[in-house]
Order: sequence, then structure tokens, then C-alpha cells
Amino acid sequence: MKEIFNEIAQNFGTPVYVYFEDILIKRANIVKKVFEKLNYLPTLALKANNNPYLLRILKNIGFGADILGEGEFYAAKMAGIDSEYIVWNGNGKTHKQKEFMLNNKVKYINVDSVEEFEYLWKEEENLNLFLRVNPDIDAKTHPYISTGLKKHKFGMTFDQASFLLEKYREKISGLHIHIGSQITDISPFKEALEKTYKLAKKYDITKINIGGGWGIRYKDEKELDLNRLKNELTPILEKFDLVISEIGRFIFAPAGFLLTKVLMVKKSEQKTFVVTESGMNHLIRPALYGASHEIEIFTDNSTRGKVDVVGPLCETGDFLARDLEIAVPKMGDLLIVKNAGAYGFSMANNYNGTVKPPEVLVKKDGSLKLIRKAQTVEELFNTCILD
Ligand code: LLP
Repeated sequence: MKEIFNEIAQNFGTPVYVYFEDILIKRANIVKKVFEKLNYLPTLALKANNNPYLLRILKNIGFGADILGEGEFYAAKMAGIDSEYIVWNGNGKTHKQKEFMLNNKVKYINVDSVEEFEYLWKEEENLNLFLRVNPDIDAKTHPYISTGLKKHKFGMTFDQASFLLEKYREKISGLHIHIGSQITDISPFKEALEKTYKLAKKYDITKINIGGGWGIRYKDEKELDLNRLKNELTPILEKFDLVISEIGRFIFAPAGFLLTKVLMVKKSEQKTFVVTESGMNHLIRPALYGASHEIEIFTDNSTRGKVDVVGPLCETGDFLARDLEIAVPKMGDLLIVKNAGAYGFSMANNYNGTVKPPEVLVKKDGSLKLIRKAQTVEELFNTCILD
């Protein structure tokens, strides 16, 4: 591991996002296999990672795309994904977007609310509209990434869905559920599906989109048991003639690493701070959700200590890990943040006028390929107007 990261740092500099093609394909194949006996369309949640080179690898093994708007549509097209396999999500769709998506023949549309249905869809014929239901189920995950409770902004209640089905049954082809992300327990998935199936049965709906949310092991948690998921969900899912999924994290997270460098090791009265080139601009998950990502430091120093790994930005929330027990590194040492392939680069930002890092792929044969260049400072400001 260490050698390859050293080589990447030498060839491409740091910070850099690094992906491994073999891990990516392995994870994608696991997802594909879970419901392989069904008529199953697995799609990639592009919000987790939208690098077109990576998407193209996965398109070639049978994946479609779950997109939010024009930007993710563009990435899907760069990857060569056919509109036939694209699902359009979102709780704030516009007429302009609708025109764009229909002109581009995006096939599946998840309708988030009664209001959206009446605003955008009630006059349309022959579309594949899926109603997103909110089953009021606690996904037992971080509140910011939990979506299936009544208090959340997503989806419609079963009563609202029934209202639409009574009135517009012939316009609606399926139901959609997505109750949150990073869910490691089977029961919320099962309960949500059971509830939704009752509604589907009542109105003879034969297509279902089960969303994403499959949880992984970041540090202490257990990965979602996909064998159990398959065994528990298949008896219900096989009653449908099409099952769509929208998986992001489970596929991308373990395939990606943020490789960055120690700028400084700073001691205060209470703490040791390892200041790295990357902070909440390159990986915002620790700052935003208190997420714990495993960090491995490549150092020849053997003295261990407790450190905070922080970024160089002007904010106390700018950290990658806190109270980490590790061999204390020195200036110039490299470190990797693991499970950074999902919601890493895609949530990177330009805070403090910093640029997004490049992305590099380690191909199956071990060769290295730059798959996204680093941003430049000029790019950050080339939309600004002075006169
Ligand atoms: N489908 C819908 C409608 C979604 O909203 C999401 C994620 C997915 C599928 C994919 O979920 P996944 O398989 O990746 O769990 N930024 C947060 C995660 C936000 C998830 C938003 N929706 C994080 O870094 O943890």
C-alpha cells in the first residue's frame, strides 16, 4: 500500500484523491449480485461520486445512474450511460429541468410530493413516474442523512400517495423508497419495504425503486449484511416485475482514498495537532457529520501519541480526525484517509479560496491514470466580473 501511495505522491503531487479500479469493480459486482435473480436495474448514486471515468467503468458492467439535475446528467452522459437507465430524483424539480430531462429522454422519474405531481406531471402521458413514499421509519443513522421519517423533507405519506393513485393511477408506474444513508441494520429496510408493498399491492403497482443507503464499515460499525438483506427482501421484491436500486456509498467509499501530506506538527499545552494539506475543503464528512474515517500515516517515527488531524483552513471545525492514537508523524510525511471514495470529492469545496485536488485511478494492471485534473486558482475566479 505504502509504495503505491508514495509513487502517486511523486508523480502527481498531493493532495490527491486515489481510486482503485479492482476494489471499485469488486464492490459493484457485490451490489449487482444481491438481486441478480430479479429483473434488477442497479444504478449509481452520482451524488456519491461523479467522476465520468469511474462511472464508465461501472456502466460497462451494467450500471445506470441516479441523478439530481443537469450536472449529474452531464457526468452520466460523459460516461456513456444511456438515458434508458437514468433515474431522476429530487425534491425541488423545475419546469426548465423537466423540459431538459424529457428532451434527453431520461426514463425514470421519482416524484417527491403531491405538489410536484400537480405542478409538473398531472398532464403528462406515458412517462415512468414513481411516487417517492416516506414510510415514517427510523433508519437509525446520522440525522442529516436520515430521510424516511415524517419530519424529513423527502417523499409523501402513504395517504398522499393513495390520493394520487386514486386520481391518476394510469399515469403512475412505480413506487420509490429511500430512507437514509449509511444504514447498517436490516430491519429499517425490511419494514419500509413491507409497508410500501401493501400500498403497491392495493393499486397493482409492479415496479419498485428501493433507493440506496447500504452502510459500510468506517471504523467501528459493521457493514450491512447483504446476504441477510437479500434473504429478507427477495420474497417481497420478487413480486415486482422491475426492481431499481440507487447505490452510492457501498460501491464508491472503500475504493477511494484521500492522500495528503503533513505540513506541520504543532504542540499546544493540551494537544498535538497534525496539520495536513487537506481539511473540510477536501473531505467535509468529519466536520459536517462528525464522521470517523480511518487514517493511516506513513511515518518512520515510532513514538505514539494522541493527536488531532486538522486542515489548514480558518475554522475550528476544520479537522479530519480528533483524539487519534497514532505514531506521531513529522513534517512531510504522507497520510491516507480511508473510505473517501463516496461523498469525498463530490462534496469538496473551495472554502478559503482553495482548489479541489486531482483524482487518480490505479488501474487493474497497476498503472496510474489521471482522471481529473486539479482545479486552478484562475478557474476559481474566471466567472468573476470586475467592470
Ligand atoms: N437515492 C437517493 C434518493 C438518495 O438521496 C441517496 C443519498 C442515495 C440514493 C444514495 O445513498 P447511498 O447508497 O450513498 O447511501 N453526504 C452524506 C450522504 C448523503 C446521502 C444523500 N442521499 C454523507 O457523506 O454521509
